[in-house]
Amino acid sequence: MKRRDFLKGVAVTSAGVALSGGVGTFSNVFAAGKEDFGEIKSLKVHCISETSWFDNATLGKDIKEAGGINTYQYNVAWNVENLGGYAALVEVEALDGKKTKYLLDSGWNTEWMDYVFAKDGIDKMLKSKEINTLIVSHDHIDHYYGLESTLKHQPDIRIFFPSTSMKESFALLKGADFSAKPGQPKNTAPHKGELILTKPNKVYKLQEGAAVVFFDAPATLQVRGENVLYFKIKDKGYVTVTGCCHPGIMTLINYARRNFKDGNKNYGCYGGLHISPFENWDPKMDDLIKGVKAMNMTKVGCNHCTGWVWAEKAALAGIPIVKGTNKNLSYKKTGSLAKAKTSNVFLGNGDEIVF
Ligand SMILES: [Fe+2]
Ligand SMILES: [Fe+2]
Repeated sequence: MKRRDFLKGVAVTSAGVALSGGVGTFSNVFAAGKEDFGEIKSLKVHCISETSWFDNATLGKDIKEAGGINTYQYNVAWNVENLGGYAALVEVEALDGKKTKYLLDSGWNTEWMDYVFAKDGIDKMLKSKEINTLIVSHDHIDHYYGLESTLKHQPDIRIFFPSTSMKESFALLKGADFSAKPGQPKNTAPHKGELILTKPNKVYKLQEGAAVVFFDAPATLQVRGENVLYFKIKDKGYVTVTGCCHPGIMTLINYARRNFKDGNKNYGCYGGLHISPFENWDPKMDDLIKGVKAMNMTKVGCNHCTGWVWAEKAALAGIPIVKGTNKNLSYKKTGSLAKAKTSNVFLGNGDEIVF
């Protein structure tokens, strides 16, 4: 046995032990190292919804009144009219042409999520098990509170879930009700499927060329940890798909460089990049434009907490920002900023990007 294979076996065994006891027994997991987790032919990401809330000022006011950005998220009373949610449909085309669909996140307001899921046929894909895996990026309000919109169609869906999630978030999986407070979640469809609790320094291989990696990074509202999707596209390189990207896009790129075979080949990214969620400018964001530009990506798809202000400046600086269409304007609700913007630097609701 080669040393590498031996080490891989050890990692699988220890992860198996760590994951036993009611939660998933997912065994396709290995320790981070110079790993080759295979390749895919192509990747399509469909933006189901990136409008986590519709108006920044209203959300900011809710947070301020509750005590500020480090308030415990389950203690905040939210203005329900303002709530949407984040979710993406991720479609992987394997080298042999076989296509597999994954759902990343389940949004916030279940009324909004039911609406966007129906609009894009996600409800039917869940019912028919065309989608049988949900990756919860992190348990932030806007990515996780809408869990019921997924589970009511498929309660036994396989879920990848950050091991660092809040105790209320674990309770929500089992069917808790926090909805006495405005904007807090409830779940009438308890989860019955496999639950894989992701931990640091492990690579969870979904299929050849596709993996989940957990980063133990702090975020606002006392949330901790985020699952990130990595794909390796044949002849192109690595693509990351994120919910919020709280660890930072440079951290994700550097992780691939250090831990994956040919990890210096960055092809692109999709998702919230958590740079300027409230559209304020900080000089260190200029450095981030330089840093991302130096990574020589081919396609950068961004939205949600990236901040239009950053995306616009990044596009002007020559970063290959993939432009959105105006599909989002036909939705029953539109973000106040999206309505005002004509630069299309965000991939909006209903837009797609192909890698
Ligand atoms: Fe977010
Ligand atoms: Fe977040």
